[in-house]
Amino acid sequence: MRYLINFLYLFTFLFFSSQEIKNPYSNLIQPESLGIFDADLLPASFHQNRRKVLRTLMPENSMAIFYSGINMVRANDVDFEFHQDPNFYYLTGLNEPNSVLLLFKNPYFFENDSINELLLIKDRNPSSEIWTGKKLGVKGSELLLKVQKSFNIDDFSFENLDLSNMDTLFMHDNFNLSDEFRLKIDPIIEDTLINNSKLNINTTQLYNWMAQLREIKTNEELILLKKAIAITCQAQNELMKVLKPEMKEYQAEAVVEAVFKLNGAEYPGYPSIVGAAENSCILHYTTNRKTMKGNHLLLSDVGAEYHGYTADVTRTIPVDGKYSEEEKIIYNIVLEAQEKAIEACRKGNPFYITNTIATTVISQKLQELGIIKSPFELRRYFMHGTSHYLGLDVHDPGTRGDFQVNTVITVEPGIYIKEGSPCDPKWWNIGVRIEDDILITNGNPENLSGCVPRTVEAIEEMMKKQPLIFKEF
Ligand code: GLY
Ligand code: MN
Ligand code: MN
Repeated sequence: MRYLINFLYLFTFLFFSSQEIKNPYSNLIQPESLGIFDADLLPASFHQNRRKVLRTLMPENSMAIFYSGINMVRANDVDFEFHQDPNFYYLTGLNEPNSVLLLFKNPYFFENDSINELLLIKDRNPSSEIWTGKKLGVKGSELLLKVQKSFNIDDFSFENLDLSNMDTLFMHDNFNLSDEFRLKIDPIIEDTLINNSKLNINTTQLYNWMAQLREIKTNEELILLKKAIAITCQAQNELMKVLKPEMKEYQAEAVVEAVFKLNGAEYPGYPSIVGAAENSCILHYTTNRKTMKGNHLLLSDVGAEYHGYTADVTRTIPVDGKYSEEEKIIYNIVLEAQEKAIEACRKGNPFYITNTIATTVISQKLQELGIIKSPFELRRYFMHGTSHYLGLDVHDPGTRGDFQVNTVITVEPGIYIKEGSPCDPKWWNIGVRIEDDILITNGNPENLSGCVPRTVEAIEEMMKKQPLIFKEF
């Protein structure tokens, strides 16, 4: 008998633990039946917990409202691929437009339930699912996302919300976005909430709270961010091996983005910046149409987005596999600036320390080369900041306070000497940026993109290697 009980116990354990692994949301529903095919998405408990933490920051008698992303017209009847609003994704895990999340500090009585969170979502519609696939709908979102209550947004009216005990409404200042969905919702909110004289509307605090939360990554987030960065490393390495004169910039971009897709990244986290020669001096160049020559430098600033989290890694490499003397000199200044700045990415240091260090190095070296005469000229050649946070957004929100453990930032100094600059023409059209993704830890900084070579020698060596995927180009 005891054996039988043990067997049943073991069987039950194995059954439910295997269910857990296959289905991060619920044992009651198979995500594939609702169009969700990835088993390594953030679990519903992550989003649930983020909502809970946000509510702890909110004062008594307050509520917060978040909009989903919107469908944007590309042309005529074709939309851009939908991308969720990162705050909304962070708090819900929902990847659909036309939704609203309401969070209540205190229990709120709605439809016979006492709730702290309410997701307004389009319900499933079989005829539109013929065109655009399955959606979660009201029931699916409750089961998979574990929001306390979902409700059909088309049946919802803000006029019916009882706000008599509410003192403050927190929301993002996004009233001027025009969209069928917002046009429908905003005026109602405006009438019922904003014109409610008692209600205090706060449109600034929510940004700060979300920045505070999103700056520090949880372990679940770090797994996805590291995966996005590892994929990007592979893409940068493959590009180094494939690159050769007469390739087009878009072919270099194709190699990078193919490696992204082949590894399951949904899309680039931002339009790939792949610029040779003079284009290496355009900070966010995305035309990517030029034919590359052997004496060009190629700057590729790219990042895979994996389940929402994006990498952001830049390398600047010689198209023929060998840096010229001038390129090497400029490259090594940027590298020194970057290495010194990375060394300072330690818990407790101020956010702006990387910029201070990088600008000091670059300013001094450019003066030694006679490219600038005083530090006041530096901004001509290094015109952007050195670091930003990284996460669901490539430029992720954060407090810009002292570095905290489990924060990921970029360190990306650069020097861009465009043609016609007031210096010796031998420097013209050299644009160099080196960008890595750094995890702040309790000890040394961890370079999550360190798997791509950075020194002149290591890059030249990598460029001699045989490509793994694209053997013919
Ligand atoms: N890829 C944009 C940036 O480096 O900030
Ligand atoms: Mn960056
Ligand atoms: Mn970048």
